Amino acid sequence: MKHTDIAKVLHDPALLGKQVTVCGWVRTARESSTVAFLEITDGTSFSRLQAVVDKASVPLDPECVKCGAAVCVTGTAVKAFRGEGTELNAAEVTLIGKCPSDYPIQKKRTTLEFLRTIPHLRLRTNTFAAVFRVRSVAAQAVHRYFHERGYYYINTPLITASDCEGAGEMFRVTTQPWNARYADEAQYYKEDFFGKKAGLSVSGQLEGEVAATALGKIYTFGPSFRAENSNTTRHLAEFWHIEPEIAFAELGDVLEVAEEMVKYLIGAVLDECPEEIAFFDRFVEHGLTEKLKHVAESEFGVVEYTQAVALLQKADRDFRFPVAWGCDLQSEHERYLTEEVFRKPVFVINYPKEIKSFYMKQNADGKTVAAADLLVPGVGELIGGSEREADPEKLLVAMQARGMDIAAYEQYLALRKFGTVPHGGFGLGFERFIMYVTGMENIRDVTLFPRSVNNIL
Ligand code: 4AD
Repeated sequence: MKHTDIAKVLHDPALLGKQVTVCGWVRTARESSTVAFLEITDGTSFSRLQAVVDKASVPLDPECVKCGAAVCVTGTAVKAFRGEGTELNAAEVTLIGKCPSDYPIQKKRTTLEFLRTIPHLRLRTNTFAAVFRVRSVAAQAVHRYFHERGYYYINTPLITASDCEGAGEMFRVTTQPWNARYADEAQYYKEDFFGKKAGLSVSGQLEGEVAATALGKIYTFGPSFRAENSNTTRHLAEFWHIEPEIAFAELGDVLEVAEEMVKYLIGAVLDECPEEIAFFDRFVEHGLTEKLKHVAESEFGVVEYTQAVALLQKADRDFRFPVAWGCDLQSEHERYLTEEVFRKPVFVINYPKEIKSFYMKQNADGKTVAAADLLVPGVGELIGGSEREADPEKLLVAMQARGMDIAAYEQYLALRKFGTVPHGGFGLGFERFIMYVTGMENIRDVTLFPRSVNNIL
């Protein structure tokens, strides 16, 4: 259908005085006996376009004056009668799709909980449309950031035979009938589609390392899957994962890239989504714009895990989980550090080797590995990364200590055998980043169809 985007009609002064046709959905409608006002959105901009219909001269189907109706309006773009901006003096209004009165997205504000029950319609609200415009802008910025710096974009497999993080939270991929009977587990997997146990990838990192140790600098941007049985506001069973991997890089280089990338993405969202961010600032997180500008301009903190534990131990706070050197930091600890001690994003580095993955570079102290988690206020962990162990013998020892099936990692070990180099990278959870820049507090509200335990609408 030939029509003009509402964003263009609203923002292009060259269209003033010209005839345009727009298509969209009626968000609100008011009418008197002589005139009707239709506020129309087509998703292209945060602001809506008001069409003014003089009922004496323009025939108007009553179905067009209903919230949710899809309409096509042709008219003249003029300066708005009240306030700033542009409106449309309608010459013709056509109904494209009518919308009955049980349309669940009405003018009055509904709760996020209710909207979660109608994922197929909630994008028609201001809030969700804004979230998804920000998400799209941020995704484009991810590709731009890496492309401008010479990284190659790699697509790693989603079906895999290895559990990268080693945490046993993989979804199985199988074609076995539900009632199949086998003598033992080995036979079960042998007769399955791939002839061995397969699952959905929790991370593209191991394959990313394959690409980085040939192409130098790569990144992946795709879904990762985790069968975590945790029903929290920060975990999904399917999330989008950005994972750069860099050859000839040590932990400090990895932190530099992570900080620069987060700032770049924030800058892109501030530049390209001013109306959306102003909306979130007003209705979702007061002070959001200031927070984002501040983050984009200030240096991230860096704290050793050992020092972080000391800070938590002397905190005047009853944590639900006690803190001792060697423990994994819980969400309450992470948020305390970033929200109350540092009050800005902070990297916690050099964790005890026992609580981190096998592939992380073992530090000279024999106790810690060169890992880094980036914690941000309001979200907690946004990024997890590390320098990788480049020494084949040390890597083997770490794998054996975890009882891993060495044969399954033959290719990964070969990267250390043939021209090994210091390298590292990180993973950023894209949904968590969108939570951070929009102020939305539940990861289910920044995902089109969120998947989590007992939830697959
Ligand atoms: O810290 P994680 O587990 O690190 C890795 O997967 C590494 N292989 C990354 C790398 O070095 N290439 O996950 C990285 C990030 C987390 O910081 C978090 O933002 C996000 O992925 N994440 C999740 N996001 C939503 N739901 C989940 N269940 C997530 N699990 C991790």
